[in-house]
Amino acid sequence: MGLLRGFGLGSLATLTFTASTALAHANSTSHNSPGLPLAINTWGGPFIVATDAAYVALLEAQTSALDAVELGCSTCEANQCDGSVGYGGSPDENCETTLDAMIMDGTTMKSGSVAALRRIKNAIGVARAVLEHTTHTMLAGDFATDFAISNGFVAQNLTTLNSAASCAEWKAGGCQPNYRINVTPDPASSCGPYSPLPLNSSSRDYTSQLHSRGSPEGHDTISMVALHRSGVMAAGTSTNGAGRKIPGRVGDGPITGSGSYVDGDVGGCGATGDGDIMMRFLPCYQAIENLRLGMHPKAAAENAVKRMVRKYPAVQSGIVVVDKEGNHGGAGSGWTFTYAYRGGSMNETVVVTVPPLNDRVSDL
Ligand SMILES: *[C@@H]1O[C@H](CO)[C@@H](O)[C@H](O)[C@H]1NC(C)=O
Ligand SMILES: *[C@@H]1O[C@H](CO)[C@@H](O)[C@H](O)[C@H]1NC(C)=O
Ligand SMILES: *[C@@H]1O[C@H](CO)[C@@H](O)[C@H](O)[C@H]1NC(C)=O
Ligand SMILES: *[C@@H]1O[C@H](CO)[C@@H](O)[C@H](O)[C@H]1NC(C)=O
Repeated sequence: MGLLRGFGLGSLATLTFTASTALAHANSTSHNSPGLPLAINTWGGPFIVATDAAYVALLEAQTSALDAVELGCSTCEANQCDGSVGYGGSPDENCETTLDAMIMDGTTMKSGSVAALRRIKNAIGVARAVLEHTTHTMLAGDFATDFAISNGFVAQNLTTLNSAASCAEWKAGGCQPNYRINVTPDPASSCGPYSPLPLNSSSRDYTSQLHSRGSPEGHDTISMVALHRSGVMAAGTSTNGAGRKIPGRVGDGPITGSGSYVDGDVGGCGATGDGDIMMRFLPCYQAIENLRLGMHPKAAAENAVKRMVRKYPAVQSGIVVVDKEGNHGGAGSGWTFTYAYRGGSMNETVVVTVPPLNDRVSDL
């Protein structure tokens, strides 16, 4: 890529089902591979522009799996997809939009990421620069911005009139909802500044107090896996995180094994959802290890989601899992998750709807 970096270039639906004989789960079905190359990512709707961009790029001989993931995620960063990726979305308590992104190479297991990135639109491009021009894995905050600028990215204001207005409305409404707990004044009715309340960690209430008050807003994110025609795989994630987050908050997106994960010998995974909870479980790492043990993609995804639902029954989560042949499946909880894919000779992207697992708590 040239010095003035920024966004990449502009940018048969036969569903077959296969009965899974995977460990333990009679009800798990995975979708058969449409063939390679393949692009697959969290969410349909406004996110299929990313699937199409990555898939079409993969048809060109010179596009690598990493290029396709970067291009797909950059497409959402540039056009904002549903507002959960890129500039002008999910303003924090100070009304600023900050970005998290990662990209991972399934051959070397190397990943590059940026966390709480300020003033740079093309977060996954900066993550790619971390991957390619450093031996680090993650850069964060203002210093990640300095790194981006020294790599040719342009600093810009990520606030839009819309994000500024939505943040002003939130403040006018008493900063509701927010992510504060065990503070004074009461965060359920007041804006900050807040001070911590003393807690008694021996009391029986202690663990229940540590649960968050629920999720203020949606948790959409783009996470994508690309399979090159040669079989080489890559994965990546880009997000503007949780709306109304406490400044400095980093979600699951840039965490290897949480936001996404890929081992080209086995498969890849992309995640979306309540990152504050999901990153405690590394669901994409878990799903790929499940694949390695012989589970089919859907069973691997369900097992990873169930581990979170057992501890956090209301968690909103969605993960899409694809094996190295391109067979795929998803699982989610707390909402109806969708994912999109296009591979082989498909002439358009197909969206798969995944009902929430916590509708069947008895199975957990
Ligand atoms: C793709 O092919 C199917 C089946 O031939 C057809 O129904 C559909 O309209 C095509 N879509 C596009 C975007 O060309
Ligand atoms: C599998 O799951 C679907 C959707 O949740 C449900 O309708 C169906 O009854 C289940 N089948 C079995 C065999 O459990
Ligand atoms: C960024 O843009 C917003 C919306 O246009 C504006 O309110 C704000 O003052 C700008 N910030 C800076 C530092 O220019
Ligand atoms: C903390 O809770 C324990 C168990 O309820 C209680 O015995 C103890 O007195 C409490 N400590 C304080 C400082 O309130």
